[in-house]
Amino acid sequence: MCGIVGYVGPRPAVPLLLSNLRRLEYRGYDSAGLAVLEDGTIHILKTPGKIQRLAELVEREWPSRLRQGGSCGIAHTRWATHGPPTRENAHPHLDASGRIALVHNGIIDNYADLRRRLVARGHTFASETDTEVLAHWIGELARESDLLAALCQALRDVEGTLGIALVCASDPDRIYVARRGSPVVIGVGDQETFVASDPAAIVAHTKRVIYLDDDDVAVITPTYVDVRTIHNVPVSRAVAELEWDIHAAEKGGYPHFMLKEIHEQPESLRNTIRGRLDPAGGTCKLGGLAMEPREIAQFRRIVLVGCGTSLHAGMVGRMYFEDLADIPAYVEQAAEFRYRNPILTPHDLVVAISQSGETADTIAAVREARLKGAALAGICNVVGSTVARETGRGVYLHAGPEIGVASTKAFSSQVAVLLMMAVKFGRCHRLSSEEGAALVREIERLPELAARVLELNETIARLAERYADYLDAFYIGRGYMYPVALEGALKLKEISYIHAEGYHAAELKHGPIALLDPQTPVVALALDIPGRDKMLGNIQECRARHAPVLALITEGDEVVAGMAQDVIRLPRCHELLAPIPATIALQLFAYHVARVRGCEIDQPRNLAKSVTVE
Ligand code: M6R
Repeated sequence: MCGIVGYVGPRPAVPLLLSNLRRLEYRGYDSAGLAVLEDGTIHILKTPGKIQRLAELVEREWPSRLRQGGSCGIAHTRWATHGPPTRENAHPHLDASGRIALVHNGIIDNYADLRRRLVARGHTFASETDTEVLAHWIGELARESDLLAALCQALRDVEGTLGIALVCASDPDRIYVARRGSPVVIGVGDQETFVASDPAAIVAHTKRVIYLDDDDVAVITPTYVDVRTIHNVPVSRAVAELEWDIHAAEKGGYPHFMLKEIHEQPESLRNTIRGRLDPAGGTCKLGGLAMEPREIAQFRRIVLVGCGTSLHAGMVGRMYFEDLADIPAYVEQAAEFRYRNPILTPHDLVVAISQSGETADTIAAVREARLKGAALAGICNVVGSTVARETGRGVYLHAGPEIGVASTKAFSSQVAVLLMMAVKFGRCHRLSSEEGAALVREIERLPELAARVLELNETIARLAERYADYLDAFYIGRGYMYPVALEGALKLKEISYIHAEGYHAAELKHGPIALLDPQTPVVALALDIPGRDKMLGNIQECRARHAPVLALITEGDEVVAGMAQDVIRLPRCHELLAPIPATIALQLFAYHVARVRGCEIDQPRNLAKSVTVE
């Protein structure tokens, strides 16, 4: 979604802003802009389209004095919400005086009301955005007080989500930032300070960061960061050390982040399980959960919430909790959960799953669950993210930054974490230490299992060429392979734009089978785990309609191989582990199909890496 960067320090701001902004390209956007301060004037350039276009504009329109001179500025990539991706709607936006420039992530819910009040006072607007309304509102308040006080008041007046950065013509070495629900991180350098909505933008410059809390406002100069509440009361926020290094945010020789992240899975899984397996006790140690057996034993129900890929991981997790821990579990799309007034008690544990930890619907689901008195836990990748902080306890994936919009390594790590959680919970219920130890030994195999699937890369790439021209596809599975079918279909549609549907294999004949024909391939998840025998019948049903079948099978299963047009042979593994190798194979398949079709794999159209609006 939208991205913010800012810089104040001795170096020329423009090249830094552009290069840092490029590190946010992966988040998805449709216009870009920047503002720099020079000689008491704000200079702004913005354009629809890519950052490259903005860079060309800078080169063309601005003299080198400005390109190399200004040492304080802000920049933005916009993912259109209020108004189409035009130059006018791109950020930064100015206030009525033209002396304040603002970039904003999020949505101002009461902007229409504020706009009406401003229009009544004679304001006119150049864009359709809520952001311009906020800029004018701050400017209006700043007529009667200093800018910091005006900003605090404005934040008390607005409703909605925001991460903002603002510069003022009369404050040549200051950036003002604030957050409510949309992340802002401040990078502390040597005599220079950076601002970003995502650490990926600044990790090349500094690893010392300050994460703002909701309703924090900060004044940033090259040498200090002054954090306040929205009531203008100073608060102290610790400087944290970023865990990742610059290479994690680069492609490292791969043509796309997605392919790099698929290939990182042996390593990311190793990091996810490292130090968390206790073979002697037959259990898993998840310190961040901070749950004693007595508390775990009191949970009557587990509710898993998330969106997209995280939701699919939750569907796998649900089965783990029921199979291993005997605790009734259900999984729900986070947006649905928050709006349908769920019935919760203190004996319910709500587990919010989110790679970014910034997905608006998942955050709202956490808040709803807290309001209703349920116990909370988070499963996040991004350390210090909103979901991680609001749940208060949980398990980090430690999968490293995931840059590709299509989530890959986060899924396998989420599933691994859920399995470890279920083992831990199971040990507080009926799971014996022998059973626990056997499962722990299986979990230890995950990195090696992932590596073996990656060896199939070339084979899958060749297969993808055969399937790249179809317009539609079905993915079918049962049991643990049902969420995998949904995830495989999601991967294919989001990066290759092929219409793909994931279905429970048994559901096919209740309607979707009407669509099967020689032009509609079916990806059948027929690994040799429970459900495989029933899949044989489902594959026959597809073949009878002349649909081409690509089956994922267990090595050596010649029965299924004989029934399908094409097969991907996966290493034999325990049923509980199977979602991970199967999903990795489908990630590779989607990747190669998209590559053959010439799609923009890391930045698929209309998509954003984290969906920070409803
Ligand atoms: O950051 P989150 O895990 O909360 O994100 C949830 C979804 O937006 C995300 O998984 C999305 O579906 C991905 N594009 C899937 O590849």
